Amino acid sequence: MKNYIYSDWYIVCTSRELKHQPIARTILEIPLVLFRGSNRKPIALLDKCPHRNVPLSQGWVRDNQIICRYHGWKFDTDGTCQEIPGLCNVRNNSKNNHKLNAISYPVIEQDNFIWVYCQVNEEPKTQPFKFPLIKQCNFSTFYWQTKEIKAAFVNIAENFLDATHTHFVHAGLIRNQNRKNVNVQITRNAKMVEAIYLGEQNISGLIYQLLAPGCQEIVSIGRFILPSIAQLEYRTNKEEYKLFISLFLTPISENLTKFYAVVTFRWGLPKWLGKLIAVPLFYIGVQQDKKILELQARNIKKFGEEDFASTEIDLIKPHISYLQKMSLCDANNLIIKDVIFKKNLIIKI
Ligand code: FES
Ligand SMILES: [Fe+2]
Repeated sequence: MKNYIYSDWYIVCTSRELKHQPIARTILEIPLVLFRGSNRKPIALLDKCPHRNVPLSQGWVRDNQIICRYHGWKFDTDGTCQEIPGLCNVRNNSKNNHKLNAISYPVIEQDNFIWVYCQVNEEPKTQPFKFPLIKQCNFSTFYWQTKEIKAAFVNIAENFLDATHTHFVHAGLIRNQNRKNVNVQITRNAKMVEAIYLGEQNISGLIYQLLAPGCQEIVSIGRFILPSIAQLEYRTNKEEYKLFISLFLTPISENLTKFYAVVTFRWGLPKWLGKLIAVPLFYIGVQQDKKILELQARNIKKFGEEDFASTEIDLIKPHISYLQKMSLCDANNLIIKDVIFKKNLIIKI
């Protein structure tokens, strides 16, 4: 199920990846060409020359305009065709015939990422997602991205926020089999769902022993935020320990997802040391998840569709599906029922 929410902002690449010359990226199955115009302003156009549909990303940028490599049509930063070699009066033509212009998308550069609003012909209703605490001076942040994962973004979000697979897929790294009762509070509003795990004594895995040594009571929170953010927050009994791992999951296509991780922490450790410990551990964790997620995706494909059996400890996925459905109704101006939801339960993790 694609269920793409087009009327929202998605990370398309990092700021560092976008130089002056064009690059091609696909998000939500929309091929885009990205480049920088005047004052390094990021530009996103549909990667299709309106003339004979050659990818504009194969062209080049000169004087802040992109030139198609086939017949040299030249487009400015909002996609207006400014020159057709051999044709006089192109400006009148492009004003009167919009088919000559390339399609442009709203773009913002924020927090070291380039964000694209995926709905054309619409003023963005929202701002891009703001990663928590990254501008706070007593917190450290590092950014991290991986190659694409061959899986649907919703299943990646569920995996990231699901505590019950950690004993198996990440045995020893995140948790071991020594399960205890934990109180979980689930809250959903129109934009997000969160599961707060209260009173988990001493998470058993190596990651916590290295990153939060001696911390007794850990509160962990798993959140899914529309359109496609999966976020973990950890707080401990020691005030100085706080950690956010936010994954922005950009769907490339139904079964291909790119993720951008932003890790912000205050551990009482210097940034370099936190990063030195965290990056290899996260890398191992992500490889373990990637393996199981791609196995799951291949098997779903083999059987033709998702056919999931769930119980109440599959806390997050039903709410992600609900939020997506509601958001799509909203985009189509359909009436939305009250989306507020609250529940408490005890699970063994
Ligand atoms: S296809 Fe681009 S100018 Fe002809
Ligand atoms: Fe995992």
